[in-house]
This record gives sequence, C-alpha cells and structure tokens, in this order.
Amino acid sequence: MENPLWYDVMVTANEISMGIRGKKTDREIKLTPHQKNLYFSGLRKWGFATTRLKRFCKSSPPLEIVAVLAISCFLLLDKRYSKFTIVDQCVEAAKKMNGSKIAALVNFILRKTAPLGSDVIEDSEKEESVCNAPSWWINKVRHQLKMRENLVWSAAKFQPPLTLRISRPSEFLSLVEDNLLKMGKKIIKQENSIITVIPPFDICKTELFSKGIVSIQDYNAQKLVDFIKIKPNMSVLDACAAPGGKTFSLALKFDKIKLVSNDVSKKRLELLEHDLLRLGHLLKSTPKLMAADLTKDSDLKQLKSFTFDGYDLIVLDAPCSGSGVVRRHPEIPWSRTPRQLTNLQNQQSKILESCWYLLKNKGVLVYCVCSIFSDEGENQILNFIEKNKNAVRMTAPGLLLPSVGKSSSPYEFLVGANLSRKEELFLGKDGFFYAQIKKEDGHY
Ligand SMILES: C[S@@+](CC[C@H](N)C(=O)[O-])C[C@H]1O[C@@H](n2cnc3c(N)ncnc32)[C@H](O)[C@@H]1O
Repeated sequence: MENPLWYDVMVTANEISMGIRGKKTDREIKLTPHQKNLYFSGLRKWGFATTRLKRFCKSSPPLEIVAVLAISCFLLLDKRYSKFTIVDQCVEAAKKMNGSKIAALVNFILRKTAPLGSDVIEDSEKEESVCNAPSWWINKVRHQLKMRENLVWSAAKFQPPLTLRISRPSEFLSLVEDNLLKMGKKIIKQENSIITVIPPFDICKTELFSKGIVSIQDYNAQKLVDFIKIKPNMSVLDACAAPGGKTFSLALKFDKIKLVSNDVSKKRLELLEHDLLRLGHLLKSTPKLMAADLTKDSDLKQLKSFTFDGYDLIVLDAPCSGSGVVRRHPEIPWSRTPRQLTNLQNQQSKILESCWYLLKNKGVLVYCVCSIFSDEGENQILNFIEKNKNAVRMTAPGLLLPSVGKSSSPYEFLVGANLSRKEELFLGKDGFFYAQIKKEDGHY
C-alpha cells in the first residue's frame, strides 16, 4: 500500500537535510522508489526553494523545512498531484516535523508559489536556481571553466546515467546485452567493457550484478585502465581504494599483479570486502586489503614494508569535493564550504607527498579526483612538480568535464531501438581529472 504523500515528504525531507549537512545515510536501502525520486528531484530544486525563502523571510527555517519546500516546488512543477493536494500534504508534513508555526510559513510560501506569478518566474531565473548551487560555487566554476561552465550546469539537471563495467567482456558482453534487451532496455556500447543502459534501473537486483558479471562505474572513472602500463608481478598500490571501483578495474584486467588496496576508513573497506565476495571468482589478481592512514609516518612505513624498495605503480584517487559528480549527488554544492575545500586541498597535497615516498625510483604515480576544480586537479599537480624536482609529467587524460546527452556518447554503438530525445538525456559522463607522474631520481 502507498504511503500518504505527507509521510513520504517528511521522510525524504529528513534525508535531504542529512545530505545537506554532509551526513551520509544508507538512503539507497532505506528509501522507497517514490521517496528516492522525491529526494533527488527535491535536491535539484534546492536553489529555487532557498531563493523563494530569501524573498519572504529574514532568517532561514530549519533545513528539514527548506527541504519540504524544495520537494513541494518539484511537486508543483511535476503536476502528478493537484495543487491543493501538494499544499495540503506538504503543510501537514511541516506540521508533523516542526509544529504549527512553521507549517503556517510553509503554507504562506506555497500559496505564493503555486500560481506561478511573475515573482515566481523571476526567482526561477536567478542564478542560484538555474545552476542549483550557492553563488561562491557558481563563481568558482565560472572562473575556472569560462565558456564551458554551461556543460556543468546542464549535466547536473538530469538523472545520472547507468554505466556498467563488464567483467571479462570477451566472455560476457553478449550475455549482458541479451539479458538487458530482454528486459526492454536500450544499450550504448561505449567500449567492449563499458555500456550505458537506458533507461537506468536498479541493476543491483539482477543476477548479472549479484554474480559479478557487471558493476556500476562511470565511463570516465573507468578510463584509468586505458592509459596505465602494467606488467605481471608489478607491485601496485591503490592508495585510497574504498569502496573499490579502481581496485576492481585493475584486478579484473591485469594478471598476477601484487595489488595492495588501502583506505583509512575501515567502514568503507567493508564495502570493498563485500564486493570482493561478489567479484572474487572473476579477478585476475587478488588485492591485499590494508587500513593505513597515509598521513601517519608509522602507517607509511608499514605500507612500504610490503615492497622491496617501493611500489612500481600507485593510484591515488584522492578525497575531493566531488564537484565532477554533482549529477549523482546534487547536495554537494550546498553541503560544502570554501573552508572545507581548502582543507581538502591541503589533505590532497599531504597524501600526494606520502605516495611519492611510497613510490620506487622509475615508478609511476597516477593522481585522480572526481572534481573539476583546478585547485584539486591541475594546480595541485603543478605545485607538486614545482616542489619535487624528480617528478616528470607523463601523458594522461587531464580534465574530463561532465557531460549529458547524445554528444557525450557515440551513437553508432546503439544496441536496440533508437533513443527518443528524453532517453538521450540518460546518456552522459562524470567530471574527472587524471594526471600521471614518473619518479626520476637523478633527473634534475
Ligand atoms: C574518492 S574516494 C576513493 C574511491 C575509490 N578509489 C574507488 O574507486 O571506489 C577517497 C578515499 O580516500 C580515503 N582517505 C581519505 N583520507 C585518507 C588517508 N589519510 N589515508 C588513506 N585513505 C584516505 C577515504 O576514506 C575515501 O575512501
């Protein structure tokens, strides 16, 4: 039986406020499909809801109530329910969450918003509503990307693509295609091991997923294994490995490498361990798991002791702002502060230095982040090379911007019927940055 709308709004608004506070919950498991839709659609209206609030209130109500307003703004546009039902149910949710006084405020703002007057249109055209980000974030993107900023805003507006990594593509590609076509899906074959499925759905509930034949991983996140050079017996460190995306890309593709997968977070390593059970039988190399902190000298010594004189290859997928994956996590621009970003950059520099210590001479370090900000990408690497005279830059993809629609994926690889314009919006890639540096002692 369906929940009453006020209940779904209340549950989802609480989840959204947690997301904005930067507290991750297990929403994938906890929310029903309807609540999940309200969650993402509400977050995509956060900028508009806060703009409406600024018009009518001197101070902002609690985040949960902003979330109720954001969800209501989506529902008013979506038109699945009547305006009367939306106002009535969202006011009820606000009352249950924060009492009558706040509910009266929600009622007032919704009654001013539902008729779509000129002030509503004016607010919907304000920058924070269009870009769905606070002004400091908008300025940062604008300053760095100049003419290309619109790519970022348009990609963030739509539901993210479902892109899959196929384990052992030569064995499983046709099986995967047949199964998905039988389910009525359309497929864009990006490369032999990468496909995008249209429309996206919960692939985790299928046997293809539970048997390890496919895993979810964005196209640009899978680029790593294309440009690195690996030989059997090489010692490889995935320095920030959890939940395991890069580890499994490496272990599925490369034979008999000595792979150490490390992460400071034991909780996140459990996710990697869980996927190891699912994918283990298909791996060409088995990762050894470690929970070391790359900012601690004693932990670094332990990590280095697994090798003779350092690692041949280190992949550092560093903690970052996530500015390249806002399409997947629309809360990101609202949950970060400029200060947090500065702290992250300092953390990245520190971890980069640690990985340099762990790398052997002639070894290669790949640095990547799912961020489009140059302070976390290109500038971070330029500063590093300036400080480390034995660092030599090698070719790597560099900055990959997020994208949406047909232009982001070659259409000739379509399997199944043609895509409608709406379906084309399910195509796209995340924003990413890759750099590759070789250690050349005696180079300077
Ligand atoms: C971007 S995520 C890694 C994603 C992963 N490579 C993948 O493909 O699934 C960054 C990771 O860095 C880890 N991390 C942050 N600080 C660290 C530190 N000081 N030492 C080791 N790992 C750290 C975080 O716990 C987080 O799991």
